[in-house]
Amino acid sequence: VSVSRIRNFSIIAHIDHGKSTLADRLLQVTGTVEQRQMKEQFLDNMDLERERGITIKLQAARMNYQAQDGETYVLNLIDTPGHVDFSYEVSRSLVACEGALLVVDASQGVEAQTLANVYLALENDLEIIPVLNKIDLPGAEPERVIEEIEEVIGLDCSNAILASAKAGKGIDEILESIVRLIPPPQDTVDEPLRALIFDSYYDTYRGVIVYFRVVDGKVRKGDRVRLMISKKEYDIDELGVLSPNQIQLDELHAGEVGYFAAAIKAVEDARVGDTITLARQPAEEPLPGYTEAKPMVFCGLFPIDSDQYKDLRDALEKLKLSDAALSYEPETSSAMGFGFRCGFLGLLHMEIVQERLEREYNLDLIVTAPSVIYRVTTTVGEVFEIDNPNQLPPPGNRESIEEPYVRVEILTPEAYVGTLMELCQTRRGIFQDMKYFTPTRTNLIYEIPLAEMVTDFFDRMKSRSRGYASMEYHLLGYRQDNLVKLDLLVNGDPVDSLSTIVHRDKAYPVGRALTEKLKELIPRHQFKIPIQAAIGSKIIASEHIPALRKDVLAKCYGGDISRKKKLLQKQAKGKKRMKSIGTVDVPQEAFMAVLKLD
Ligand code: GTP
Repeated sequence: VSVSRIRNFSIIAHIDHGKSTLADRLLQVTGTVEQRQMKEQFLDNMDLERERGITIKLQAARMNYQAQDGETYVLNLIDTPGHVDFSYEVSRSLVACEGALLVVDASQGVEAQTLANVYLALENDLEIIPVLNKIDLPGAEPERVIEEIEEVIGLDCSNAILASAKAGKGIDEILESIVRLIPPPQDTVDEPLRALIFDSYYDTYRGVIVYFRVVDGKVRKGDRVRLMISKKEYDIDELGVLSPNQIQLDELHAGEVGYFAAAIKAVEDARVGDTITLARQPAEEPLPGYTEAKPMVFCGLFPIDSDQYKDLRDALEKLKLSDAALSYEPETSSAMGFGFRCGFLGLLHMEIVQERLEREYNLDLIVTAPSVIYRVTTTVGEVFEIDNPNQLPPPGNRESIEEPYVRVEILTPEAYVGTLMELCQTRRGIFQDMKYFTPTRTNLIYEIPLAEMVTDFFDRMKSRSRGYASMEYHLLGYRQDNLVKLDLLVNGDPVDSLSTIVHRDKAYPVGRALTEKLKELIPRHQFKIPIQAAIGSKIIASEHIPALRKDVLAKCYGGDISRKKKLLQKQAKGKKRMKSIGTVDVPQEAFMAVLKLD
């Protein structure tokens, strides 16, 4: 195809505004996927994602479209994921495009993530086509939402399209607009090859499958290519396009989007954002890439049964092949034994990995409370980073502790501004700005320590706003503060995996709340169990769990044996998620208690 007949675009949308439904509809109308092959939401093909209704993995699809001008165009859709943890993935898909559909639910309106993504698209000079989706809903108010888009984003909506992805309305108009409004890629076929990696996944048989956009030049099957940043070289075994199933071709040129396989062993070896060039005729400069996705949230993963340690290691190794953002290294805990310290992009990423380990690999795990990366300066001027509270040097040896801050933007109906500001304040937020756009959209901007965000901030924001507020955040940098390590002692023994780093002003209330919570969560035993919170050797809060008075089986003595069995079974089941710490059985929830305080 001639470059002038290629259009590369993505879809920007807030979760649930209908991006996947629209993508499906485009594939169907262009005949890319036949009706009978059409699974609902073709592009979201991981089970977990489908269950949660979120797109995680970026995908691409090539469609042929015969436009009203009689010409056939190649439309490449590059799907973008829609969750806060994954905003970096959005940026990488946008860089590979010349335009974007901005899909907004006409019964809802502009949300924080829509906003963040549109700004990214504008920064990348993309042509944006607003699409008001779900106009079939009785509550749809396209005029109000158009006004909102113009007010909040400052985007001209004169070419906005009213659509219903579900009912198939406005789809032709969308396709025509893509052809008419989004510019074709630049014709740089004669320049040395430069192609941008925007995604990859691991295939057991072929090795890593790399998704890329050719920016300059052309690439053929059999070419020896060099990755300009990693400096590694590979021979291309297989090359093709995604339609959305892989279709092999011999050559791709500037402007095209496709995939290749080259016996690459792990996704880490073909980093997203790297530039591919030809080994025999390399380009001079790599393309501007993306900032690497770094793990920001860490937690310990420990097998309940220590026999599963090796299985856990193998499972993490496998997951890592397809997830470059996941990090892990062995961790030994005096309370929990052998496990791994794992790093994630955010809380959702953490939950997903944890769930996959349990479901796909049949592991029973105890997960410790999430932590962020702290930067510590010692009294001798040494600076290092820790991702585990237990790596903190003793108070006498440290000069200062710095913690990461994020800038949080919340979009909310005016009615919830008060309660959300209160939430931000209790999370040590620093107020920056408040912009009033429309009665339903006020923008609150705060700077908040990341550590205060990873403890269920998102859920609290949702419940305080009855689901109406949305948020987006990005990392600002490190700031010093008065932070201390809070330890928990169960039955007189410090439990390392319950330690947290907190602000000194919050240490007392957090210590009290934690001991109370643990008292609730740890079951009674045959003996009395003291629970204490301490900073260094100083106890700042204490509670105790009274001894169990009656044997739970006592009432069955002489009774019916099947009832006795049932009771024992019930107890065994309840025990499944327990870790023995000394002589005390501690349930999984206790390790997450710090998330459930307020
Ligand atoms: P994520 O994958 O989580 O980002 O969501 P999404 O934006 O891809 O939304 P999705 O396509 O999964 O749609 C969310 C819900 O809205 C689904 O239940 C769809 O059936 C529904 N939906 C999508 N488009 C329309 C529409 O035009 N009208 C109506 N009434 N419902 C729609």
